[in-house]
Amino acid sequence: MNAAIQFNDVSLTYGPETDLVKVLNSISFSVNDDEIVSIVGPSGSGKTSIIMLAAGLERATQGSIKIHGQEITGVKENELSDIRRKNIGIVFQSFYLIPNLTALENVLLSLEANQKYNLDSEAKSLLDEFGLSHRINHLPSELSGGEQQRVAIARALINRPKIILADEPTGNLDSANSNTMIDLLFDYSRKSKTSLVLVTHNNPLAERCDRIIELKDGKIA
Ligand SMILES: Nc1ncnc2c1ncn2[C@@H]1O[C@H](COP(=O)(O)OP(=O)(O)OP(=O)(O)O)[C@@H](O)[C@H]1O
Ligand SMILES: [Mg+2]
Repeated sequence: MNAAIQFNDVSLTYGPETDLVKVLNSISFSVNDDEIVSIVGPSGSGKTSIIMLAAGLERATQGSIKIHGQEITGVKENELSDIRRKNIGIVFQSFYLIPNLTALENVLLSLEANQKYNLDSEAKSLLDEFGLSHRINHLPSELSGGEQQRVAIARALINRPKIILADEPTGNLDSANSNTMIDLLFDYSRKSKTSLVLVTHNNPLAERCDRIIELKDGKIA
């Protein structure tokens, strides 16, 4: 069986030879289907970089990254966005909602036109499940932080991804809202046997995951 995510000897550097920033130094790990893994480590240790690489939003300098067995390094941009759209849901720390689109429109944002049409009622029922049925036509500026993050999670889940990447999804929320958010992600992951990679600074939360990957100085500790 192929792992959901497989990093093999992956390095990431930024900048020119003379001023090289080494971010990740030959790291290897895999995440299985239906596994919940946390990534922890000090600020600047490369956690967000791993999320960006796994999502194909950043290119590895060296090494191999496979998503469900498919190599994504060196793949053309349009093919990469196809792989991303089919496999991956991403939740960022700052929610990245589009300010002039309603909650519902934000959930449908990344879908193609026919999918938008087909998944409209799915989007409404996700928002309903997340306690936002009375908010679907509101703009992000009219929503609380917790509500905005629930919209962002609904957007990540709308096309039923097999992998969820969440970069400090609760970083901007109080503890009650954080717990709600994490429960939503864990429930989805467990119910639909989806792998969840969760970057967090919160140790009790990391402990709730099946496994912890600890980064230190660009390597796995
Ligand atoms: N575009 C870039 N150019 C140069 N250096 C970068 C770039 N993006 C990130 N870095 C550097 O890479 C390192 C890792 O960054 P990354 O965002 O992955 O860290 P992180 O573990 O997510 O930190 P935090 O906990 O603060 O979010 C940092 O030292 C950062 O300055
Ligand atoms: Mg980060």
